[in-house]
Amino acid sequence: MEKIQNPKKPHIIIIPPPFQGHINPSIQLTLNLASKGFIVTFINTHSTHHHITKANNYKQYDDVFAGSGLDISYRTISDGFPLSFDRSLHREQFMVGRVHVFPAHVEEIVRELVDLEPRPTCLVADTFSTWGYDVARKYGLVFVSFWTQPALVLTLYLHLDLLKKNGHYDSKDNSNKDTIDYIPGVTSLKPRDLMSFLQETDTSKIMHWIIHKAFTDAKKADFIICNTVEELEPGPISVLKEMQPIYAIGPLFPSHFTNPAVEMNLWSESDCSRWLNNKPQGSVLYASFGSYAHSNKQDIETIANGLLLSGLSFIWVLRPGIVNSDVTEVLPNGFRENVGNRGLVVPWCKQNAVLSHSVVGGFLTHCGWNSILESIWVGVPLLCFPLVGDQITNRKMVVEDWKIGINLCDDGKLGSSNEVAQRIKLLMSGKTCYELRKNIEQVRKKLENALSGNGSSQMNFDKFVTDVKAKID
Ligand code: UDX
Repeated sequence: MEKIQNPKKPHIIIIPPPFQGHINPSIQLTLNLASKGFIVTFINTHSTHHHITKANNYKQYDDVFAGSGLDISYRTISDGFPLSFDRSLHREQFMVGRVHVFPAHVEEIVRELVDLEPRPTCLVADTFSTWGYDVARKYGLVFVSFWTQPALVLTLYLHLDLLKKNGHYDSKDNSNKDTIDYIPGVTSLKPRDLMSFLQETDTSKIMHWIIHKAFTDAKKADFIICNTVEELEPGPISVLKEMQPIYAIGPLFPSHFTNPAVEMNLWSESDCSRWLNNKPQGSVLYASFGSYAHSNKQDIETIANGLLLSGLSFIWVLRPGIVNSDVTEVLPNGFRENVGNRGLVVPWCKQNAVLSHSVVGGFLTHCGWNSILESIWVGVPLLCFPLVGDQITNRKMVVEDWKIGINLCDDGKLGSSNEVAQRIKLLMSGKTCYELRKNIEQVRKKLENALSGNGSSQMNFDKFVTDVKAKID
């Protein structure tokens, strides 16, 4: 185990969920806190550790963190399943295990860590964790709830009672089905824009249980930190601030903080730079559906044919497990031959490097929150194909509030390949494209300002550090 270097520093434990969209901002948070004088113990599950070491040439992560020169130690714990268990294929069973088995493994390591000097005084757990609050209270730790999605989505989850009362969640009363216009800080939205877990089509009992427990606990958190920006979501953030101590400290991604980059990719990255270097400016569509959501064979086929028909160049990330069969089997016959050098299909890539390449002019995305923030940062407009959870609500902000993207399909159901091709062309050139690029530049400036010296996210992060230190002293 890593030796604690300075016994006077406050010691904080960070345990991210095992999904890329949560691991990435958690690493940045770790580096930022360590840069501010915290000792951080960063804990992955054995399974995440197995995947990231396999994908990253068997890197030793304790060495990587030690190499940062910061006081960070790296530990791993079981999630209760053997390494051979396919967590993506058996998601429901995995979620049940995360609720009923995983907390015991968390407790085991926290029990061990609280015997160390300096004793940890603070636990950072994802807002969706159902164990963070209980473990923190049991071991006398300050509980920091870490929210890695938009503040709008957090506000909605924290007002489940109002949604229920108005017949928009878990209710037989369908009296007010048209508009949701009664949540403080939230401009009206349609029920179809709610996170999928709150819609009637979602029947996962375990997700409903998780949501209820996690957001009841979030209300009791000592602090909530959010990977978002005040100027991006002023309405929801001002309301959240009235409810409890909350700090918008985003966007949390590597290139914008001075600390060294640490990467934990769950899949090996294909290098796309040589292919990209040969394409004209703004001509390439980048397509990726993130690390968590599933799609189906029919939609993947429709999109593949749409890409072909569009005549445009593209990089398409089809990660293993996106559909419940081998991805090569879901591409239409002869797809790769027909596409030739015009398209590149890869299992995973360095998304930030691809997005920031000048030849990339559009992003066909599942609307994961990190992907949206990363795309805004480099001014690349979005073509939205939300699949699950917050992605449904995130789409609404991108298309209707900020006007920096368009829908791939209007009613949530993919149309024909021809329609897909039309939308791709709309995104990549012409009047719509021009408008989107103009709008995204305005939004991009908000992110840039937030991260500048006296910007809101920097100030909020400094305040959070001061407040946490005051609480644990
Ligand atoms: C999950 C949920 O799906 C999402 O709804 C929520 O908002 C955050 O957590 P995920 O599916 O992983 O996220 O999507 P996203 O939030 O976009 O995060 C994906 C991360 O993986 C990004 O940081 C992206 O840069 C990275 N990535 C993605 C790669 O590095 N390479 C790739 O090929 C694809």
